[in-house]
Amino acid sequence: MCGIVGYVGNGSAREIIIDGLKKLEYRGYDSSGIAFGTGNNLEIRKCVGRISNLETLLSKENLDSHIGIGHTRWATHGAPSDANAHPHSNMDESIAIVHNGIIENYVELKEMLINEHGVVFKSETDTEVIAHLLGVLYDGDLEEAVWKAVEMMRGAYALVAIHKDEPDKMIAVRKDAPLIAGLGKGCNFVASDIPALLKYVREIYLIENNELIVVTADDVKIYNAERKPVTREVFHVTWDVDAAEKGGYDHFMLKEIHEQPKGLEDTLVRRLNDNGEIVLEGITMTKEDIENFNKVYIVACGTAYHAGLVGKAAIEKMARIPVEVEVASEFRYRDPFVDDKTLFIAISQSGETLDTLAALREAKSKGARVLSVVNVVGSSVARESDDVFYTWAGPEIAVASTKAYTTQLMCMYMIGLYMGLTKGTITREFYDSYIEELKAIPGKLAKVLENEGAIENLAKELYRREHVFFIGRGPDSGVSLEGSLKLKEISYINSFAIAAGELKHGTIALIEQGTLVIALATQDKLFEKMLSNIQEVKARGAYVIGVAKDGNKDIEKQADKTIYIPECIDEITPLLSVVPLQLLAYYIAKLRGCDIDKPKNLAKSVTVE
Ligand code: M6R
Repeated sequence: MCGIVGYVGNGSAREIIIDGLKKLEYRGYDSSGIAFGTGNNLEIRKCVGRISNLETLLSKENLDSHIGIGHTRWATHGAPSDANAHPHSNMDESIAIVHNGIIENYVELKEMLINEHGVVFKSETDTEVIAHLLGVLYDGDLEEAVWKAVEMMRGAYALVAIHKDEPDKMIAVRKDAPLIAGLGKGCNFVASDIPALLKYVREIYLIENNELIVVTADDVKIYNAERKPVTREVFHVTWDVDAAEKGGYDHFMLKEIHEQPKGLEDTLVRRLNDNGEIVLEGITMTKEDIENFNKVYIVACGTAYHAGLVGKAAIEKMARIPVEVEVASEFRYRDPFVDDKTLFIAISQSGETLDTLAALREAKSKGARVLSVVNVVGSSVARESDDVFYTWAGPEIAVASTKAYTTQLMCMYMIGLYMGLTKGTITREFYDSYIEELKAIPGKLAKVLENEGAIENLAKELYRREHVFFIGRGPDSGVSLEGSLKLKEISYINSFAIAAGELKHGTIALIEQGTLVIALATQDKLFEKMLSNIQEVKARGAYVIGVAKDGNKDIEKQADKTIYIPECIDEITPLLSVVPLQLLAYYIAKLRGCDIDKPKNLAKSVTVE
């Protein structure tokens, strides 16, 4: 939540920071700003709205410098406004700071600053408290002031500060919010995430929790919480710059939908050896460990939680261990039954979702073994887990998750297969045929994508609807939740997902003449039952779009229109059936004129509770 970029060196801070902020807009985009160090002063420019507004503001004057810090905001304390936008400064405007996260004791600190130091606040943010705190603690040494402020602040944050009298230095701190340093030639950078710096540097330091860094044009010094210098290995970024750009597509979301065949292939094949065995390189889970587990918790948020629902079915079926799936914000506050016989699986694209991270810490403190399924290498969830099963989705920029979800599903099937085979609860024959099914998925998914034109046409027919129901049974019920989330988050249509068998227990009261129902009927075992559920809503006037496997033509007797997906075993249909729903959501949102990659009120990475 919120993106930070800082630069010091021989180039144009303005150009580099604006460019970096644009790459971080996925983290928040309700306002933005930059502070420049001009040698003997600080100049701050900020405004509400997208980065383009800031560019317009800056274009009115010739302001630039060799040092600057920038910020793109997702509001937590105080509405989006010019005043609440970052950077914030202290009373005499000698210090400027940008901040990502929350200062939990900001009320207490604010009262102290007002009562004891006569500070006058200009914004409603918790961040401004940090600027004033640094102002009263400053005694000729910004680094020292930041160390002292850190001791007084509670919460999760990453922040960067500059001082007008120390014009060649940025001081940054990380505590439970992402922060990296980019290593250039004659220049150095700080940022919240790698895409912000990819155009300029490939060598970075991943900053750890409670570390403070001193960044000058020639050096990046890292100190741990005890103020001892730390030596950090340089992390070399291998991503293609294009992977973080739109590559000819209108939106990142559409590009990422189309990247799914490759993401799935990479996720599967990179962990298979020549005998088709899953190689858990870097994962130390032994046969004894797996036999020791008597329970699995899968914990995640949003789309990643929906992937967890599929993971539950896969692990229970193959490894015969009871699995509970829970949203992270609920798990952490209810004293769950976790001990050293528990396997805790955290799923997270960003690896920075605070609720998931906090749940992971809770489980770890109770002795659970932590395995995470994460996309962003070196993220907090990855670093705090015992083992990491990386998805190979590549950078996901659109707020609406697509390729991260399908690659997470792939990992869940693989984890289930690995545990089942190792434990002996599935046979090698079963395992081999399942792997063959998974290997065929990228090709089948490419076929689903060939149907894009038909789905776009369907969107033209449906985009004015204001209410939609998604129904399904078994794995289709989890996909219904994901299809519904995709539609509501980018098109703002009121959509609702429910297990088809539950409809008659209340929700069917909402079905009336013309109500749109999207009915997933991809499960051979449950096909007849789904046809009955479709009949029930049809009898009350619903307009039904069915999703079924090729060949299950009987659905056409009930549904008004049908989208077909290629034949595959029932358990893995979510890998295919979610894709038409992603495309439908995309084209409906496009026709409604929505800002698809940056939906209102949302941010890609939710690093606040
Ligand atoms: O980065 P994470 O996977 O931990 O994010 C969890 C959710 O915030 C995320 O899946 C969210 O629901 C999606 N952006 C929705 O498309």
